[in-house]
Amino acid sequence: MAKVRIGIVGSRFQADCIAASVKAMPEEMEVVAVASPTKGNADDFAKRHGIPRAYSDYREMLRDPAVEMISITAPNNLHAQITIDAAKAGKHVVCEKPLCVTLEEADAMIDACRQAGVLLLYAEELFFAPKYVKAKQMADEGAFGKIHLVKQGEKHSGPHSGWFWDVNKSGGGALMDLGCHGIAFCWWFLGRQKVKSVYSHMANMHHRDSTEGDDEAITIMEFENGAIGMVESSWNRPGGMDDSIEVFGDKGQTYADMLMGNALPTYSEVGFGYAVEKASSTKGWTYPVFEEHWNYGFPQEMRHFARCVRGKETPISDGETGRVVQEVLYAAYASAGLGRKISLPFRPKGIAKPIDLWKKPELAKAAL
Ligand SMILES: NC(=O)c1ccc[n+]([C@@H]2O[C@H](COP(=O)([O-])OP(=O)(O)OC[C@H]3O[C@@H](n4cnc5c(N)ncnc54)[C@H](O)[C@@H]3O)[C@@H](O)[C@H]2O)c1
Repeated sequence: MAKVRIGIVGSRFQADCIAASVKAMPEEMEVVAVASPTKGNADDFAKRHGIPRAYSDYREMLRDPAVEMISITAPNNLHAQITIDAAKAGKHVVCEKPLCVTLEEADAMIDACRQAGVLLLYAEELFFAPKYVKAKQMADEGAFGKIHLVKQGEKHSGPHSGWFWDVNKSGGGALMDLGCHGIAFCWWFLGRQKVKSVYSHMANMHHRDSTEGDDEAITIMEFENGAIGMVESSWNRPGGMDDSIEVFGDKGQTYADMLMGNALPTYSEVGFGYAVEKASSTKGWTYPVFEEHWNYGFPQEMRHFARCVRGKETPISDGETGRVVQEVLYAAYASAGLGRKISLPFRPKGIAKPIDLWKKPELAKAAL
């Protein structure tokens, strides 16, 4: 079968990751175009990755018949419009996390793709991370008995691009940026059960000068069978990205440290090129990772999505998955605003961005 032909929207951090991940699975797919608005960026990106076409406007790329599926690696506040435009143009969509900013956007994205008969695929790579997949296989086999607690943490020293810090573009802080992974992870790991309630404590500990967003959040989800998901999200952890899980049941437990646990404990007095995402130094003791994209699951995720387009596999992460996460994000911000547990379903209408439910608790109260 012909390779799935992908157009990438965006040309920086995540776009590089997607282009490299597609290249790692050349039998299923190829990147045929890139679109990015800043002058010269799409051309440079195309040159760097050997991509034949570069556009400065994604709408132009959507008219290109060579493109079958797009991968959206633009800021969060653009995900919904780009998805809806792509659906109208008959292109399948891979959307980076979080799915969007508001629940209304999530509904509109899902509807647009359904009406157009295209796939809306939610890029949650933790469902494909080899260590986490192994942990889930063991859990599903019964290795840990009845699971009562799943924890996921994602922590680093803060985002690399200005728009993440601007809540009008991102929709929120560390919880929106990193917590969306943990929410999806716990839900997936525990078999996609309904989330019964959400409690979250958050703060801006060290970044008041650069953002109105939360830089620290601890979120507890209660699932229908009583199991607990605990998500730790932080922009206050120097030393490089930390992504890890812990799983506890009445018959056992497992721990997985995705990056440091797959690294080379290294000491260097002079330093070297690169250790791990967001590490500020390579001098002294460090934990350089190898096969970083593979450890996260990005190539495996894109391969799965390409196979879904060809009807060889059924999506394990789609628009509905993104909407589940979005509702928990709303509930978490509302919980932090009101200082209490929020029961789901929780679908307040007309909220401009999730973080407003924390900053303006009256909005959260009105929605109860
Ligand atoms: N899955 C993951 O682990 C992961 C990691 C990083 C980022 N992301 C997500 O990917 C998305 C992009 O993040 P990033 O880190 O690459 O940000 P970035 O700032 O590095 O790149 C954003 C890109 O979007 C482009 N862009 C801005 N406006 C645009 C427009 N109107 N049309 C087309 N492109 C436009 C910018 O030019 C830039 O190339 C975000 O939603 C982010 O949450 C996911």
